[in-house]
Amino acid sequence: MCGIVGYIGTRQAAPIILDGLAKLEYRGYDSAGMAIYDGEEIHITKSVGRLKVLEELTHGGATMPGMIGIGHTRWATHGAPNDINAHPHYNSEHTIAVVHNGIIENYLQLKKKLTDRGYEFVSETDTEILAQMLDYYYTGNPIETIAKVMHRVEGSYALGIIFADHPDEVFAVRKDSPLIVGQSVDGCFIASDVPAVLKYTRQVYFVENEEIVRLRADHMHFYNVDVEEIAKAPVTIEWDANAAEKAGYEHFMLKEMYEQPKTIRETLSPRLRDRDVVIDELQMSVEDIRAVRKFHIVACGSAYHAGVTAKYVIEGLARIPVEVDLASEFRYRDPILEEGAMVIVVSQSGETADTLAALREAKKRGFPVLGIVNVVGSSIAREADRVMYTWAGPEIAVATTKAYSAQLIAFYLLAVKFAKVREQITEKEFQGMLEELQRLPNQIELLLNNKGKIQKFANRYLAAKDVFFIGRGIDYAISLEGSLKLKEISYVHSEAYAAGELKHGTISLIEEGTLVAAVSTQPDLYQKTISNMVEVKARGAFVLAVTNEDNREIERAADYVIYIPQTNPFFANSLAIIPLQLFGYYVAVGKGCDVDKPRNLAKSVTVE
Ligand code: AGP
Ligand code: GLU
Repeated sequence: MCGIVGYIGTRQAAPIILDGLAKLEYRGYDSAGMAIYDGEEIHITKSVGRLKVLEELTHGGATMPGMIGIGHTRWATHGAPNDINAHPHYNSEHTIAVVHNGIIENYLQLKKKLTDRGYEFVSETDTEILAQMLDYYYTGNPIETIAKVMHRVEGSYALGIIFADHPDEVFAVRKDSPLIVGQSVDGCFIASDVPAVLKYTRQVYFVENEEIVRLRADHMHFYNVDVEEIAKAPVTIEWDANAAEKAGYEHFMLKEMYEQPKTIRETLSPRLRDRDVVIDELQMSVEDIRAVRKFHIVACGSAYHAGVTAKYVIEGLARIPVEVDLASEFRYRDPILEEGAMVIVVSQSGETADTLAALREAKKRGFPVLGIVNVVGSSIAREADRVMYTWAGPEIAVATTKAYSAQLIAFYLLAVKFAKVREQITEKEFQGMLEELQRLPNQIELLLNNKGKIQKFANRYLAAKDVFFIGRGIDYAISLEGSLKLKEISYVHSEAYAAGELKHGTISLIEEGTLVAAVSTQPDLYQKTISNMVEVKARGAFVLAVTNEDNREIERAADYVIYIPQTNPFFANSLAIIPLQLFGYYVAVGKGCDVDKPRNLAKSVTVE
């Protein structure tokens, strides 16, 4: 997600920018930089690594005198974390500097257009094309120029921009990525988020989509993309600094749950082009896709659960055999990998030791490895032959939510793409699925707004000793993740069970009042799951059902039902997991657990 800070006023800009970026460190980043105008030209200092490196390089900002500047902490999406790819980025003449949060989806097309016109690029980032686009369209009027570029750029962006020939102004632009501006007696500020400016002012303006802000030392003007001036009202921030980091949410986990709609849009939309699925990073021809004879999916924890879902979805749609392994098992079981097999490793952090070892084992055996990874430039991302990024942004809470949801989307895209190329689905079915995928974010928002009901139900189970999650097919995969979410943050023992397997032993654990969460999102299995619910009810269980809106018959077997909106059964995990995430979260909150940093756990398990 990164962090942007900009300043123009009567004080030295660099120390203020460094201080503001430090307040945004919680957002996660891999490099940092600043551009300061010193009265004659724009100077840039930037480096990979922690903000401390930049502070040391600039002696706390002292080596960069000037009262106007922009700063950035980068969370890489395009181009590995290194000094060159760090922001700010210049145009070739170094008369324009830009910092950017977001993803420019059509950057390759724009880069080609500019290269054809003689422009040269020094970085691998999508951001650098913005600096060069501003240069290419520059009319001498920054607002007009910015608007021209906005009309040609697709994707998400929050921008801070300075022009050397407009040394008494800073510009801010927003589309989809968050951006605020504020004013104090000492000057005006840009920031990705409120914590960066709280020290100076509590009056902020939330920049809306496709708005441009011109900031001077003592006032600001707002414009729309048609270069018409607009009026905006300030908002007074009541939060304290700590709450502000979580944007007012009580925990990062809840904040990240609420980021899932945005995460899914950002993972999905760059890969949906002209009514087709375009996964450039696969670098696979139609022949390559047709030649794949089996997938081996290897991961740990929630990433493994996404892989279990993928087995049902890929086998169901593309009719390609899929074997799913825990990475810690795969790496030691001398796996049998046949000709035509492709290994997919899945990892949010990209640093999980077992998953990295599994990747190396597969490569040692000469098999191609695709990584589905969230952290750009991580070990798994670097060592995989191909990488499909999930673009969920930094995930702070130890218990994954938005990254898991993004992993599901990555697998859905793969499944429908392979199914289409291998002619397992019709064009009509393909288009229908793309529409259903694009409906998921809004449907998730509806489910998240249901959190009060879930919280009330969760509060009845704070003293629970054992909770069981059961389901068949994809519902079993959903149960795996629902169970992990509960136990890893609330410390309540929980197990996920294939519903049809329960009676082969585990049902002996069901007692009066035992909570059993039955997941039933697969219409062709509704009846079977109802039978399993009746079996556990007969032994005293309290049955919570999570099911589709049309499955009203379930009410005869469930004690409590949470309905989810209709979607393609193959994609149901993305919806059913939301109430289960909320359930685990509210049980943990109710028990007073440290939700974001549960005991014994690490966000990235870099040891065996
Ligand atoms: C999930 O909530 C847990 N934090 C854990 O199971 C995690 O999914 C697992 O450690 C894998 O991590 P990775 O995705 O970073 O490889
Ligand atoms: N897409 C840009 C990059 O990779 C910006 C990433 C960010 O939001 O920090 O440099």
